[in-house]
Amino acid sequence: SSPYLYLFQDFWCLPSRIQGVNNSQKHFHAKDNDVFLASFPKSGTTWLKALAFAIVNHQRFSSFDHHPLLSSNPHQLVSSLEFILSHDLHDQLLSLSNMSEPRVLGTHLPFSSLAESITKSSCKIIYICRNPFDTFVSLWEFVTKMKSVSSLEFTLEEAFENYCNGITVFGPWWRHMLGYWNESKTRPNKVLFLKYEDLKEDTVFHVKRIVEFLDSPIIQGGESSTVIENIVNLCRFEKMKDLEVNKSGYIDNIVEKKHFFRKGEIGDWINYFSPSMIEKLSKIVEEKLGGSGLSFKVHS
Ligand code: A3P
Repeated sequence: SSPYLYLFQDFWCLPSRIQGVNNSQKHFHAKDNDVFLASFPKSGTTWLKALAFAIVNHQRFSSFDHHPLLSSNPHQLVSSLEFILSHDLHDQLLSLSNMSEPRVLGTHLPFSSLAESITKSSCKIIYICRNPFDTFVSLWEFVTKMKSVSSLEFTLEEAFENYCNGITVFGPWWRHMLGYWNESKTRPNKVLFLKYEDLKEDTVFHVKRIVEFLDSPIIQGGESSTVIENIVNLCRFEKMKDLEVNKSGYIDNIVEKKHFFRKGEIGDWINYFSPSMIEKLSKIVEEKLGGSGLSFKVHS
């Protein structure tokens, strides 16, 4: 098994996050207008954070020439709850309660580990999910660049074995996806389930879904399609990757910001998978997700 992860509740957790997860479950009070952005790592979190931040704050920041997303990385504008609460608990709870509303917060926690106040209040959750093939490659490329992990020197084959066994940060990935998938089926007004591939193929359409799901005032405005197009353009992969603020510097002293923007494509996995890896992961996808109704596009 993996030397740097612990099985905590029912997921694999970095030891440095356990305190934050516990704190979120014990001390966080969700507000009814909170917006949570949930994801399994490397599924499109950065993109979703940018889009949702722009949508929720469009009245505060209506200029697309001087938008905060042009001068801050999306992870600086929208932090993960379990990360925020991993240190200085009382100060952080205070700044959370003073955040401008609606608050937009991220989380990588599986649905079953969310604070009760999140699942029970009327706050909304948007989940983004990505096909397990591209997610693995994106994770592999990212993890090997993280300061704390790269020194462990995994091979691609070892990382793949762990991934197939569900042993990755916040994994198993199938349990993560299915938790939110099932919830989105029973409570469609609570959980909006998005797929990276869909968002990639028709960004405007799916951004409209987000706008409607959040009951954003953008819908009522006569300029709604222009606003949506501006938001989509602001958050485009090429545009964000090219911003000075996303090219240099670190996020939380763990990983360079540039590593959040790698290729941004569907189907790059083909350049990494051997025939036996394809066979193995396809079987696992069928075994774990078959019958759930959840399926993915794996080629562009
Ligand atoms: P690749 O590694 O395949 O390029 P996360 O944000 O959850 O960490 O996921 C990162 C993945 O999303 C990376 O995939 C990254 O390139 C891609 N990504 C980041 N910003 C994006 C954007 N604005 N549009 C599309 N994809 C984006």
